[in-house]
Amino acid sequence: MARILITSALPYINGIKHLGNLAGSMLPADAYARFQRARGNETLYICATDEHGTPAELAAAAAGQDVATYCAEQHELQKTIGAAYGLSFDWFGRSSSPQNRELTQHFAHVLLEKGLIEPRTDKMIYSNADGRFLPDRYVEGICPVCSFPRARGDQCDNCGSLLDPVDLIEPYSTISGSRDLEVRDTRHLYLRQTALADTIRAWVDSKTEWPALTKSIAYKHLDEGLIDRGVTRDLSWGVPVAYEGVPLPGFETKVFYVWFDAPIEYIGATAEWAAATGNDWRSWWRTDEGAGDVRYVQLMGKDNVAFHSVSFPATLLGSGEPWKTVDMLKSFNWLNWYGGKFSTSQNRGVFMDQALELLPADAWRWYLLANSPEGSDTAFTWEQFATAVNKDLADVLGNFVNRILKFCETRLGGVVPEGGEAGPRELQLYADIGKSVAELNANLEAIEIRKSAQAVRALWVLGNEYLAEAAPWTAMKTDPVRAGVIVRTALNLTALFARVSSPFIPFAAETIGTALGQHEKSWPGEDIAAELNRLTPGAAVRTPEVLFRKIDDVQLAEWGERFGGAEA
Ligand code: 2FM
Ligand code: ZN
Repeated sequence: MARILITSALPYINGIKHLGNLAGSMLPADAYARFQRARGNETLYICATDEHGTPAELAAAAAGQDVATYCAEQHELQKTIGAAYGLSFDWFGRSSSPQNRELTQHFAHVLLEKGLIEPRTDKMIYSNADGRFLPDRYVEGICPVCSFPRARGDQCDNCGSLLDPVDLIEPYSTISGSRDLEVRDTRHLYLRQTALADTIRAWVDSKTEWPALTKSIAYKHLDEGLIDRGVTRDLSWGVPVAYEGVPLPGFETKVFYVWFDAPIEYIGATAEWAAATGNDWRSWWRTDEGAGDVRYVQLMGKDNVAFHSVSFPATLLGSGEPWKTVDMLKSFNWLNWYGGKFSTSQNRGVFMDQALELLPADAWRWYLLANSPEGSDTAFTWEQFATAVNKDLADVLGNFVNRILKFCETRLGGVVPEGGEAGPRELQLYADIGKSVAELNANLEAIEIRKSAQAVRALWVLGNEYLAEAAPWTAMKTDPVRAGVIVRTALNLTALFARVSSPFIPFAAETIGTALGQHEKSWPGEDIAAELNRLTPGAAVRTPEVLFRKIDDVQLAEWGERFGGAEA
């Protein structure tokens, strides 16, 4: 039994996520975690809300709440909505937890002692009206690159350039609107990534299994040359710059930068899990305490890759301590909303809560996994969504399940038929199914999400072909024993489909399993003949309620109207 640690990028606390966020990290991570658990591997899937930084402070202010209350509420909201999508986190933590605070302060302390973090004097924008420094998003102005009038201090939303607040033209405070700003000297801590560049490059070189997208982003940053990064900010909400309760002199009013503490929360959330469940987190994270045999897999959108392939490793490797680092870093391109981007700030696209008002979670899961933005950016369209639901789920899987169970119920008394032997067509089926299951396993193991979905669909298609060719309704008239063999085989196929579909559509898989009285959740083994003879002859089965309702044109028009689309 292998030990698999899985983390998906931590969603920002500010607001319910859109489908693009779901598609590019949490959902594929969940499918992979479900697969590994079913395989019998010891699996730990960890995620959390990313609660610090100016976006959290600004969103709380906009909601008229203090930031701690805001974060506590939003965390619960995200946790609830994640559960509604069947996201099977072993723990969904909070980067504001005491565990993360302690770990973050520990790393900073060790790095300071090694001279890999050092204090420097920095020029920052100070607002006289607000009586404070204005980091990141607290200052806006004209973009020095594209002249966009409302560029944020950390990044221009129009041209995507990463900015420093002091570069903005005609800057103003987003707190008071004041333009009475000046550049002042202030002290900040810097992580000396330049000193770690060779170490990080050698470490990236060793990651031969990373996919092309991940590697290309990591090397782009390494080749451009790493820069030392400020890891503290003039904010009050965040991890205080302190160690063992004692603030670092001169840093009493500062906290760590959100991107310093956020990835450490992967460890922090594991510690939260351990504290809540009586488990040991160190055996997952310390190679000197048992984590040497852990396989660690991270999933994230491509905008997060630099932080995970360079910055976070700089923290872990720089500490010189035996921390577990990532083995497989799976990254995703964008799921776009028609031609443009999903946007939280501009409210464009479908958000996780809204989507569930339209259709059940499995419909979204299937669409988003089958169209995973792996090879390139992918555009969501209502038409493609309707095809995925109507063809794949309703026609191919839904019909198969419904047809065989209805037939069994009406013609064979609703029990698994007894007697008869498998014939040549069944032997052929075993071989075909075996091949497709092997393909599915290989693709899931490699986290090739689209190919995995294709392999599952191919299995459903094999089921339909078998049923169409073997035609139990015809055999029934001349050879009821043969008809019994076919129905029994098809019922077993249905049960197998529930098992291999569960990473993709866990709710439907559960419904199908229950209809067959099957409680087997494990992944099918290599002996497919045995897997297709698991149901006990004579056991009762029943037709489940409609598994997937088709999307009709009226709904499509209505949703297009409500959420927009082509014009985006
Ligand atoms: O881009 C984002 O949504 C970040 N909140 C991801 C953080 S991942 C990890 F490092 F915490
Ligand atoms: Zn710009």
